[in-house]
Amino acid sequence: MTTPNYQSLEVLYSREQIAARVAEMGAQISADLKGEKLVMVGVLKGAALFLSDLARSVTADATFDFVAVSSYGKGTRTSGAVKLIKDLDESIEGKNVLVVEDILDTGLTLSYLRKLLLQQRPKSLRIATLLDKPSRRLEKIEADYVGFSIPNLFVIGYGMDYAEHYRNLPDICLMSPDHPE
Ligand code: IMP
Repeated sequence: MTTPNYQSLEVLYSREQIAARVAEMGAQISADLKGEKLVMVGVLKGAALFLSDLARSVTADATFDFVAVSSYGKGTRTSGAVKLIKDLDESIEGKNVLVVEDILDTGLTLSYLRKLLLQQRPKSLRIATLLDKPSRRLEKIEADYVGFSIPNLFVIGYGMDYAEHYRNLPDICLMSPDHPE
């Protein structure tokens, strides 16, 4: 892995743009809940920063839970296989659930998770994704709340990684096309 050169990274969405959009999403989610409670289920690790900001824009009585899945290897290509690494701590039966994800890409991860979570018969199950790459979809799945829809680009920052690096960048940046794979 080459040393990240943070200065030369190209910003796709700045921290200000992210904050503004996340606030809008939180307001919409709150309005749709009509005063009901919410369980926010973050998909580790990529959605951690998004969930923490989104949660602060949601005005409902919200609790958190987290799941972890493995779908990507250490690079930028998917293996196609999704595996649950960490399950929910609490039952979601009869609850309003919002799955919070960083990127909806091929849809393999969220299709798998949706099926798994629906087995617990939540009252409602919605999906919020910060980024959507509709052109990459292999599974038929859409998010209820989308931050930004983007073309087929590999992005890093604001929780999103390349080989576990760059998650702490405050902006969403483009991974340069000549990155090592
Ligand atoms: P999917 O199962 O193909 O929809 O993959 C979703 C997961 O792939 C996301 O939660 C990310 O962890 C990862 N991923 C997809 N595209 C990117 C990207 O551009 N940068 C970083 N991670 C990505």
